[in-house]
Amino acid sequence: MDDPRHARQRGIVGRSFTPRRLQGVLDSVETICSEVIDGMCEQGEVDLVEAISQPFPLLVICDMMGIPRSEFQTVLDATNVILGAGDPDMLGGEEDIVAALFGAGIALTELMNEIAEDRRVNPQDDLTSALVHNTVGDEMLAPHEIAPFFILLAVAGNDTTRTATSIGMHLLGQNPDQRKIWQDDLEGVTPTAVDEIVRVASPVTFMRRTVTRDLELSGEQLSEGDKMILFYGAANRDPRVFADPERFDVRRDPNPHVGFGGPGPHFCLGAHLARRELSVIFRQLLTRLPDIEVAGDPVHLQAIGVPLVGGVKHLPVRFTPTKPLAATR
Ligand code: HEM
Repeated sequence: MDDPRHARQRGIVGRSFTPRRLQGVLDSVETICSEVIDGMCEQGEVDLVEAISQPFPLLVICDMMGIPRSEFQTVLDATNVILGAGDPDMLGGEEDIVAALFGAGIALTELMNEIAEDRRVNPQDDLTSALVHNTVGDEMLAPHEIAPFFILLAVAGNDTTRTATSIGMHLLGQNPDQRKIWQDDLEGVTPTAVDEIVRVASPVTFMRRTVTRDLELSGEQLSEGDKMILFYGAANRDPRVFADPERFDVRRDPNPHVGFGGPGPHFCLGAHLARRELSVIFRQLLTRLPDIEVAGDPVHLQAIGVPLVGGVKHLPVRFTPTKPLAATR
């Protein structure tokens, strides 16, 4: 979406998305993560994607929007179709990709319309209530804008964190020295380690831009109206910016990566939340399951062309089983 539509929507949504407004969500991240680990910590060997990377960010987004847990599977299936449509495993038996995409869009739209309708009458402490009760007039999302915004959030804020979690764990398996540095000083190293995971993983593969005026860029002549693609993973390995860019360095500082987008109007709205999610997940995993290790190769999502998100479908891990925290409280 471009200006002026983008600036208007981002202005409205951004007000409900400040660190202060998000405080409740940020606090609940710790509890949700603990619950998710409780659900798998006795098993000793799991698929990290199914057990953690997938449910955790989705539960955070659903709680944030006020979507009941009973609808979790609907949201999970629909977002899997929207981002993984090139992979037959993600289509839930539907062979026609267009029909599957259409069905997923309708399922999320119906769910969100129902919840928005309810919150108009019964406001709660969630983002949906904030969005439908924002100040009046032009400054409010129109009813038909709520569901598309939720779809954007569910897609943008879910698969990205999922990919970063899975690739982060894989990177720790490949770099035992870096894992030791992190595990020996969890509090001190987590902030830089999380950003390094986002740099190396670059979960969003690309975005497209339209050139708004003629210009020369790195020796290429571009004309107004040209379409160009930003490849975040390439920018994040630019040797002019990053020393030894292929190296995974959990203490890399400064780390001016563009994994959350470059500076500008489209910079990731959820960067603050994503950093919190990744910090909590790795801190809890490395504390509660300190010997967790990758037990096989990651399986990547199949894609048609270049996928928007470089998803990981499966990542086997093993660890010494431990009791759930809820059971010991
Ligand atoms: C590791 C996790 C994440 C990564 C790597 C990531 C990355 C990105 C990137 C690269 C963009 C595009 C920026 C551009 O066009 O230049 C973006 C946009 C966006 N992200 Fe994230 N994101 C993450 C997590 C989240 C979360 C948790 C949320 C929300 C809950 C979120 C919400 C959004 C939204 C709404 C946009 C669109 C912003 C706009 O166009 O104005 N993201 N993100």
